Amino acid sequence: MDFPELPPGSNVVGVGIDQIEVSRIRESMERHGPAFLNKVFSEREQDVCMQRADPAPCLAARFAAKEAVSKALGTGIGKEFGWLDFEIEKLASGQPVARFSEHGKSALATRQASTALVSLSHLKETASAVVVLIK
Ligand SMILES: CC(C)(COP(=O)(O)OP(=O)(O)OC[C@H]1O[C@@H](n2cnc3c(N)ncnc32)[C@H](O)[C@@H]1OP(=O)(O)O)[C@@H](O)C(=O)NCCC(=O)NCCS
Repeated sequence: MDFPELPPGSNVVGVGIDQIEVSRIRESMERHGPAFLNKVFSEREQDVCMQRADPAPCLAARFAAKEAVSKALGTGIGKEFGWLDFEIEKLASGQPVARFSEHGKSALATRQASTALVSLSHLKETASAVVVLIK
């Protein structure tokens, strides 16, 4: 795959954005329950979001983050990069931090990236994520 040429010395090697309707996540939770949650979200992500009065916007933002990473990698969600290859860890301050599985780290390596910076946002009915891959 061809990627845009980067200025020499640049540490940024990829960017991705995604937004999602919270209702999509709400419907998947209602229809498929734990099967959906366990397919897409790590235990840590589920623990954080299930503590909320309304878990759906929190989960939707993490769903968006996974899709945003997949866009930054250029793979989409599939064999090369799956839902559970990336998770959001939430620091005590509230800031989200990117964590990758071993398979996720291999996907990062194909882009010469070592990690990702991530930012999340959610309203009642929409959630968004922006991801920057760093060398
Ligand atoms: C790549 C992916 C994340 C795109 O997300 P989406 O929600 O379908 O679409 P969005 O509107 O958010 O984004 C569309 C944009 O993504 C970008 N995009 C598409 N494929 C991409 C890729 N391989 N790499 C980077 N960006 C990509 C394009 O710019 C596209 O806009 P364009 O068609 O106008 O050029 C998506 O195809 C994917 O892999 N989704 C997983 C779906 C799935 O398994 N769902 C089951 C739920 S359990």
